[in-house]
Amino acid sequence: MSGALKDPAERLYGRTRSHPLRPRQQLLLDVTLPRLRFSEAQAVDPLAAFHPRPAKLWLEVGFGGGEHAQAQAAAHAEAGLIACEVFENGLCSLLSRLVPEGGEATAPLPGNLRLWDDDARILLRALPPGSLDRVFLLFPDPWPKMRHAKRRFVHPAQVALVARALRTDGEWRVASDDPTYQAWVEEVMAGQALFTVRAPALQRPGDWPPTRYETKAIRAGRSPRYWTFSRTDLPAPADTHQAPADLPGAQGDPE
Ligand SMILES: C[S@@+](CC[C@H](N)C(=O)[O-])C[C@H]1O[C@@H](n2cnc3c(N)ncnc32)[C@H](O)[C@@H]1O
Repeated sequence: MSGALKDPAERLYGRTRSHPLRPRQQLLLDVTLPRLRFSEAQAVDPLAAFHPRPAKLWLEVGFGGGEHAQAQAAAHAEAGLIACEVFENGLCSLLSRLVPEGGEATAPLPGNLRLWDDDARILLRALPPGSLDRVFLLFPDPWPKMRHAKRRFVHPAQVALVARALRTDGEWRVASDDPTYQAWVEEVMAGQALFTVRAPALQRPGDWPPTRYETKAIRAGRSPRYWTFSRTDLPAPADTHQAPADLPGAQGDPE
């Protein structure tokens, strides 16, 4: 591993709000989000949070504007998807497409989509081992400077955390357009045995809806890579399962 790799940062992301919220956005957070929110108490039996109870459980880390999460939920009624995002404007963006103005409290919502508006790592720790069938990490914040590497979501500690929650043969999909992060993913994943590693696709595979970040990256001339890692049957290290209270919430200080 290049350089001395530090433990993961207490907080992996930057701002959680970019500008004051408009009244409609505030209403979406106050009224619609609670209708979709996945609570920590539900992590004991996560499939029970969906109606009807799905056959599979999927989780997306950092959904941004939620284009991918919304498309996957619409295309896969058989899967319950917990979509995680800490950035309020991202949450509002997804919620505003799910409910029309005036329908914040009453409009029907997808039965197979739930939202987690805190650090995805808290939820990954709270879920039962082997409960997830698939995890998506699409265009994570690249943190290109080496001194920020501890904030990258792909990190040996988080690899073990994802592995703990995924069942054997479960899939971890990762995409990145950033050359430093691409090399980093290759390096981190080559140094572990919890997932089998194949060369990434250079074109977005089928059943992999586009995201806003990806569209911008391609328009800017960058070349995304798309990995599909498959969970082996090796047990994940036991110490990935810290109590959620050991982790800071979204309001913690980045340093
Ligand atoms: C570069 S954006 C990409 C968003 C989206 N996946 C896309 O492709 O358009 C990364 C997102 O991950 C979110 N994020 C970063 N760390 C997170 C964490 N630990 N838990 C939940 N969301 C996180 C950030 O708030 C940000 O919106």
